[in-house]
Amino acid sequence: MATPYHSLSAIASSIVILFLLVRSNAQDNVPHHGGVISLNMIHRDTPSSPLYNSSLTNWQRVSNALRRSRDRINRFTSSEDESPDHLMYSEGDYLVNISIGTPPRPFIGIVDTGSDLIWTQCMPCRQCFEQNPPLFDPASSSTYRALSCMSNECRLLRPASFCSIDTVTLGSTSIPKTIFGCGHQNGGDFSGIESGIVGLGRGAVSFISQIGGYLVGGKYFSYCLVPNPAMSFLSNNSNATSSSMMYFGRPNTSSGPEVVTTPLLSNGVSATQTFYIVELQGISVGANNITLNADAKAFKGNMIIDSGTTLTYLPELLYDSFKSAIEEELKDRDLEVKQDPTGSGLSCFLIKYDILPGPNVTFHFKGADVKLKSSNTFVRVDDETVCLAFSRGSGVGTYGNWAQINYLVGYDLENKTVSFQPTDCTTS
Ligand SMILES: *[C@@H]1O[C@H](CO)[C@@H](O)[C@H](O)[C@H]1NC(C)=O
Ligand SMILES: *[C@@H]1O[C@H](CO)[C@@H](O)[C@H](O)[C@H]1NC(C)=O
Ligand SMILES: *[C@@H]1O[C@H](CO)[C@@H](O)[C@H](O)[C@H]1NC(C)=O
Ligand SMILES: *[C@@H]1O[C@H](CO)[C@@H](O)[C@H](O)[C@H]1NC(C)=O
Ligand SMILES: *[C@@H]1O[C@H](CO)[C@@H](O)[C@H](O)[C@H]1NC(C)=O
Ligand SMILES: *[C@@H]1O[C@H](CO)[C@@H](O)[C@H](O)[C@H]1NC(C)=O
Ligand SMILES: *[C@@H]1O[C@H](CO)[C@@H](O)[C@H](O)[C@H]1NC(C)=O
Ligand SMILES: *[C@@H]1O[C@H](CO)[C@@H](O)[C@H](O)[C@H]1NC(C)=O
Repeated sequence: MATPYHSLSAIASSIVILFLLVRSNAQDNVPHHGGVISLNMIHRDTPSSPLYNSSLTNWQRVSNALRRSRDRINRFTSSEDESPDHLMYSEGDYLVNISIGTPPRPFIGIVDTGSDLIWTQCMPCRQCFEQNPPLFDPASSSTYRALSCMSNECRLLRPASFCSIDTVTLGSTSIPKTIFGCGHQNGGDFSGIESGIVGLGRGAVSFISQIGGYLVGGKYFSYCLVPNPAMSFLSNNSNATSSSMMYFGRPNTSSGPEVVTTPLLSNGVSATQTFYIVELQGISVGANNITLNADAKAFKGNMIIDSGTTLTYLPELLYDSFKSAIEEELKDRDLEVKQDPTGSGLSCFLIKYDILPGPNVTFHFKGADVKLKSSNTFVRVDDETVCLAFSRGSGVGTYGNWAQINYLVGYDLENKTVSFQPTDCTTS
């Protein structure tokens, strides 16, 4: 499957050599830092988020999230790649605040587990989207270095874009000589408040791969997502003031009785292994166990675990059976099926109380049964409508962030696994 990420993919594979040259002296110079690095992961709809639009209603925010989700999935599965730039993919829901350069310049980037590198707009800018924070000015950073564009590797980059290196600071940890993208010609659907992308993909020269040597336990990151702030008023026990968290490095509490772990797979979906692909073997809805048929099973890596997509998109055949199973379970409860008022084509029900006490849903990833809560399975979209937080995908599915709320999700690039641990992210 071709993906819109193949421009990033080309970059990633083409700068392996540069990367090796750069890394070899970087690693020795800086001491390891003791602990895991924690950063707030700011949901764009949190009042403290720079992207928060106070004139929207909560329902509009939910509806916008569903639209972004659809846009993102369309780009995942689109075979087109006509974009003239690197900064096109802004549909993520979460932001992190890191810094680039010396002295450190704050950088609010969209978290994107579907791309590999940090990308920001740089001066001088031939074509940029407007942004509120000043553009990154390489001249103002004493540690900035442009990589030579004469190399075959760099010529694969789009015209007018540069791969650069500079110090990246996460919390109080500074990591020198990190390759990032300095875009001089950019476009895309950015609001102008964020400055770019923090790509957390798993490619060979991805950001995580580069900084692994500075992290406790190597190339490992995790996050814990609190319930969507636009919905928190619905739930009695969610703490609207607590933030989702992102952790770089391996916590020493990453195993326990409730942690389930599934292998990361390599398959043909992305030549550069940017995506976190796993094998979904089936889904249980109450007592009904839906397993993928033999054909689908032959296609092993069939789900991308993604932080930037809101909903979960299931492989086509699986979705139809899943939806029927849910509707079957809900039939007994006298729930009226109704049209999705957001226009996202979801399977929706008329409901007059807060949380739909749906059937127990378990995702059977290879070696990892992830039991969803009702709040992961359904999304309330207005005063009287609750919808399945799942939609029909095509080809490879995507496991979105709604299904990941209140799990500590760990991405282990050393052991090639993803783990899920049920966690109250509002108190941890
Ligand atoms: C905020 O939402 C309103 C209502 O939809 C819209 O008109 C306005 O452009 C939005 N503001 C920003 C900065 O996006
Ligand atoms: C980002 O972090 C810097 C300090 O590291 C701070 O000055 C800045 O206000 C933060 N920006 C946002 C939007 O939180
Ligand atoms: C929230 O609390 C109210 C009153 O305490 C209760 O009636 C309602 O069922 C609770 N809602 C949920 C989702 O627990
Ligand atoms: C909500 O979170 C804040 C900050 O983490 C904490 O001080 C407060 O006690 C929490 N409230 C509840 C009800 O959990
Ligand atoms: C985890 O590490 C911290 C500090 O590095 C230590 O205080 C704590 O006891 C450790 N926990 C476990 C379960 O090993
Ligand atoms: C349902 O099927 C999956 C395989 O798709 C299996 O791993 C799981 O144990 C089954 N669960 C039940 C309750 O039968
Ligand atoms: C869901 O599973 C739990 C046990 O994990 C059980 O107590 C509960 O009754 C189940 N709920 C439904 C609706 O089947
Ligand atoms: C994973 O890799 C790390 C470091 O490479 C190692 O310490 C650990 O024991 C491995 N296994 C698990 C299950 O985490």
